[in-house]
Amino acid sequence: MVGRDMSFPEDFLFGAATASYQVEGAWDKDGKGENIWDRITHEKPNVIQDGSNGDVACDSYHRYKEDIKALKELGAKMYRFSISWSRILPNGTITSINQKGIDYYRKLIAELLENDIQPMVTMYHWDLPTPLQDIGGWTNPAIIEYFVDYARILLTHLGDKVKWWLTFNEPTHVARGYFQPNFMAPQLLLHHLGAGYMVTANILKAHALVYHMYDKEFRHSQQGKISLTLHSFWYEPMSDSEEDIKAANTAINFDFGIFAHPILGKDGDFPAVVKERVEVVSKEMGLKRSLLPPLDKEWIARIKGTADFLGVNHYTTRLCTPGPGGVNIPDSGVSLHIDPAWPIAASAYLKVVPWGFRKILRWIKDEYGNPPVIVTENGFSDRGTLNDIDRINYYRSYLRELSTAINEDNCNIFGYLVWSLMDNFEWIRGYTEKFGLFHVDFNKPDRPRTPKDSVNFIKNVFKTRKLPRD
Ligand code: NOJ
Repeated sequence: MVGRDMSFPEDFLFGAATASYQVEGAWDKDGKGENIWDRITHEKPNVIQDGSNGDVACDSYHRYKEDIKALKELGAKMYRFSISWSRILPNGTITSINQKGIDYYRKLIAELLENDIQPMVTMYHWDLPTPLQDIGGWTNPAIIEYFVDYARILLTHLGDKVKWWLTFNEPTHVARGYFQPNFMAPQLLLHHLGAGYMVTANILKAHALVYHMYDKEFRHSQQGKISLTLHSFWYEPMSDSEEDIKAANTAINFDFGIFAHPILGKDGDFPAVVKERVEVVSKEMGLKRSLLPPLDKEWIARIKGTADFLGVNHYTTRLCTPGPGGVNIPDSGVSLHIDPAWPIAASAYLKVVPWGFRKILRWIKDEYGNPPVIVTENGFSDRGTLNDIDRINYYRSYLRELSTAINEDNCNIFGYLVWSLMDNFEWIRGYTEKFGLFHVDFNKPDRPRTPKDSVNFIKNVFKTRKLPRD
């Protein structure tokens, strides 16, 4: 480590992230409609590890001022949160607009700005209004225009105060809700129909239309920036054999390139390797056409370039070799493995592999011409302790790699947000996995927030913009 510059640029944006369903609670208050996570947790509580739900969660709907106090204590300059679609449009469409929902987010944003914290707003972080699910959710192309309508309401009512917009959080995970067992709502198993790829295409189109709408109707007066956040593991070849190197390249294109390439790639469109593989697999299944719907020329052009910057969520790494496709990338023909020596977290998927962070940032730089990137999530889960030394070690090691990516690899990274500000509802894992810097006592009605030891560590990094040497 000696000699490495472990500092961050002066105007670097440090902050923290959450998402509506995971923290807000107030699931049926003040006119909010039902979303797919309300539905699945209420109707099938057994699919959630501890049978819990987000009915109250951190109660941020009533306690957002406490969240902002916690952000202040951390020295955060940015807070990324998401908007609950069904709080704004209870039946999913603009036929009924819930003013109380709009008021809530306006209050939250005003309080952030008063405290000198910039809001970064995610329009969709997985909580689809159930009426839209009932027409097929993200597989139905009709959703594209419903999303545009919703986005227009957000930009109209909140855009005067928000300079940072993300249309989607981790769209690959939205798609996984349509084919991967025991994972994201609505937990459909429709891979044989290509449902995940339909979702992918519809989300890309919805994103692109909202981007162009921002350009046409809002950018001039609001002067903000708009993009989306993609998630990816780093995919490392299992060995330096040609097959493994190829496998790793295929895997990252299935998981990351499938969204990044149409938006940031030189020629747009899905990555060639993804088109080829899905075509082969579809034929093998006995189909006459590919499960991946092709993008036509107009759409390729419309989608290309629709990002003012790129949001990246990163947590962990996998080793790749040819074999049956991993659960997240079933048609890739790439098997994913872990090194048993990697330290573990509470979340089964999360192994501590700091060097993968630098590698993925470097890969994005090389592949897409060094676009401006903000890390919109990175963090570590445990079972809940205030003395969270493993989380501190995770952050220390990952932040080192981040500073190296910036200072030595010249990656164009302008910010970093921790996941998460506080413990919250971790989807199908309920409250069994804790990612927070602040502990939340879910047994107490007032949901007190208490700083863990990691708060001190992160606060110091945010303040000094340097990593401690030890
Ligand atoms: C990414 C997701 O965006 C977030 O909702 C989730 O809680 C974290 N990963 C941790 O698994």
